[in-house]
Amino acid sequence: MDASNGTSAKSATLTIGDESWELPILNGTIGPDVIDIGKLYAQTGKFTYDPGFTSTAACESQITYIDGDEGILLYRGYPIEQLAETGDFLETCYLLLYGELPTAAQKADFDYRVTRHTMVHEQMSRFFHGFRRDAHPMSVLVASVGALSAFYHDSTDISDPQQRMIASIRMIAKIPTLAAMAYKYSIGQPFVYPKNDLDYASNFLRMCFSVPCEEYKVNPILSRAIDRIFILHADHEQNASTSTVRLAGSSGANPFACIAAGIACLWGPAHGGANEAALKMLGEIGSVDRIPEFIKRAKDKNDPFRLMGFGHRVYKNYDPRAKIMQRTCHEVLGELGIQDDPLLDIAVELERIALQDEYFVERKLYPNIDFYSGITLRALGFPTSMFTVLFALARTVGWIGQWKEMIEDPGQRIGRPRQLYTGDVARDYVPIARRK
Ligand code: SDX
Repeated sequence: MDASNGTSAKSATLTIGDESWELPILNGTIGPDVIDIGKLYAQTGKFTYDPGFTSTAACESQITYIDGDEGILLYRGYPIEQLAETGDFLETCYLLLYGELPTAAQKADFDYRVTRHTMVHEQMSRFFHGFRRDAHPMSVLVASVGALSAFYHDSTDISDPQQRMIASIRMIAKIPTLAAMAYKYSIGQPFVYPKNDLDYASNFLRMCFSVPCEEYKVNPILSRAIDRIFILHADHEQNASTSTVRLAGSSGANPFACIAAGIACLWGPAHGGANEAALKMLGEIGSVDRIPEFIKRAKDKNDPFRLMGFGHRVYKNYDPRAKIMQRTCHEVLGELGIQDDPLLDIAVELERIALQDEYFVERKLYPNIDFYSGITLRALGFPTSMFTVLFALARTVGWIGQWKEMIEDPGQRIGRPRQLYTGDVARDYVPIARRK
């Protein structure tokens, strides 16, 4: 195949034997061009092969752009550094859903609509009581989000734009309530209802940490920190869980079921489960002087150990979110008067050593968003098992925004990848009496 590296070429030529085909090249506004292979199988009888989708654009999108080499992350064109420092999470939600920053009136209306959807059907609380108290909160969240489709039939007709937007607002509004209920259930404390006079992040902290016996006072520094953490996790292009949501949605499944599928995928330690795994890893390392032993293990091909919170499929530079997360970590520890957190000392030293080590430098492995988030969330009072729940809470707006974009794409059709088959060729059935 031959195509110029610049955007001047309008097509790529594929030559197999004495046959050639012209494949159109499509240009984005920024980022890599794509070679449209939609007709390749019909023309050549051949598939492309890219199991990890390392070179495959599965869709067209206008929501989030990542430049892995430069360490750039844009939500609808706005740099994450600016959104994380100036706006709040619901402003980012509006931007991701509607494509523009809201005016003051639009923001007030959006906040009002989300706030008034934060309660869940009272029957949901009985749903939780079917779980053991020690069930992992992610298993409870997957199930309870999937169950929303059993309660909100009036917003599951995906062909109705009105219902699509109501379902999106409901998902954004109810996910903190369900996440807090999963936490309260796991510690045997009563559920706490949302309060309409609190902002999104403060409401979530209160639903998690207040108890009936006393008033809970929200610390504005901590609620600002958790709000910023939500912004950092809100969307990230076509990552594994977002691709899961898109594929589930491509069959016409209702939005609540699609988000439940995304939560299930996010749970994996190679993806959103890495924040929980990273904190466990820092605990396992235990002290700065054991770091070399673990660096050695991370480099050993025969050892499954990986540095959790390190490396990324796209970022071959520092994850821009990790820098903001590191700063937020210091801010939270400072506000809480935690002078020296041994796990933070290990994390900072581990990062310093790894970033000088040829193995990590050569493979462009840098800390990602999960490296410092665990230390921050633990300091905020969340148990390790809740870390990925918070990731899912924040990512829900990204999932629902990408789901909406896919459903509203006029060219949308069911996703149905093919395969390279290396199994048995056709053979006849052998009755059991004649098998050896
Ligand atoms: C998230 O996609 C997204 O956008 C995800 C995310 C989002 O916001 O949605 O950013 C959130 O999931 C962040 C990533 C969280 N996961 C982890 O921190 C788990 C540890 N990281 C690795 O498992 C790994 O880096 C991945 C899964 C993140 C990326 O894997 P890739 O792209 O498939 O890379 P790879 O496994 O092919 O690694 C390339 C090389 C390999 O060595 P060689 O075969 O070339 O010799 O780098 C090595 C890997 O062994 N490597 C690591 C490593 N990560 C990659 N070696 C040690 N420790 C690591 N963490």
